[in-house]
Amino acid sequence: MQTSAPGKLILCGEHAVVYQRPAIAIPLRDVRATITIAPAAPGSGLTVKAPELRAVWRLQAQEPLSALASMTLDYLKLAEPDVELTIASALPIASGMGSGAAVGTALVRALAYVAGRTLDAASIAELVYTSERAFHGTPSGIDNTVVAYEQPIWFQRQAAGPPLIAPLEVGGPWTLVVADTGVASSTHAVVGDLRARWQADPAPYERSFDAVAALVVQVRAALGGSDGAALGALLNRNHELLVELGVSAAQLDTLVAAARSAGAWGAKMSGAGWGGVMLALVAPAIAATVAEALRTAGAARTWITHLERTP
Ligand code: MEV
Repeated sequence: MQTSAPGKLILCGEHAVVYQRPAIAIPLRDVRATITIAPAAPGSGLTVKAPELRAVWRLQAQEPLSALASMTLDYLKLAEPDVELTIASALPIASGMGSGAAVGTALVRALAYVAGRTLDAASIAELVYTSERAFHGTPSGIDNTVVAYEQPIWFQRQAAGPPLIAPLEVGGPWTLVVADTGVASSTHAVVGDLRARWQADPAPYERSFDAVAALVVQVRAALGGSDGAALGALLNRNHELLVELGVSAAQLDTLVAAARSAGAWGAKMSGAGWGGVMLALVAPAIAATVAEALRTAGAARTWITHLERTP
């Protein structure tokens, strides 16, 4: 038996979303983390294996996945089962594609399966969020939410209470080319650095966050329409604001410029920045050409993905 969860991309609004502005995220349905569930000898307990990382964790370890597994077993009111869970992930780590949230979500689903239960997306997102917060500072919760819901979402933290989460209308259909700089980057570090700069001098950052929020509203409308050039221009503007916020990187800016020169309607970094991935909105006919241009410009890996129209 296997469980799985998709990767994700932030289409618009990363970082500002930590400061209660809205953001839009989409699932990457065909780039997934998978967990294979196998029974283990009686009394052997729970083992989580990540062969790609040459890592093996037991339930008691001081590790994020062990903590998430303990919390999930408590939630399910399940005693430690004798199972071996083996992780395989097509998502590069620390790249902005939601690898941590995808593995966490697949893990919660695997333990729910062992308990003979199916958990709804909101409960899964909450469990993964609680464990991410324990290990990764002040995440907004958008990553675990889009991964658990597996649909394009509007997400906004509230001053109090649960975040606002709404599924989004998708027009298009849209084609995205995603490129990994190959530079690993810690979300925790980038979010923490921005927080320190914001604390020292909030006003300019608040203005940038408001500008991002206004863009996100426009992106929601454009996403539901079919004007690629209009949506692309908004993504370009979001990239410029992220550069101003100090979260981009030379490699990201190079790839963004290469995608635009190759004919993309728009391109931006996606996720925490300082490394990780960028995305480009393209006409389907030029997707392969843009991907090639991105590899020539130094991308370690590229993916072509589609956002289908909502029925
Ligand atoms: C990371 O995918 C998105 C950030 O906005 C961080 C967060 O929302 O927790 C950079």
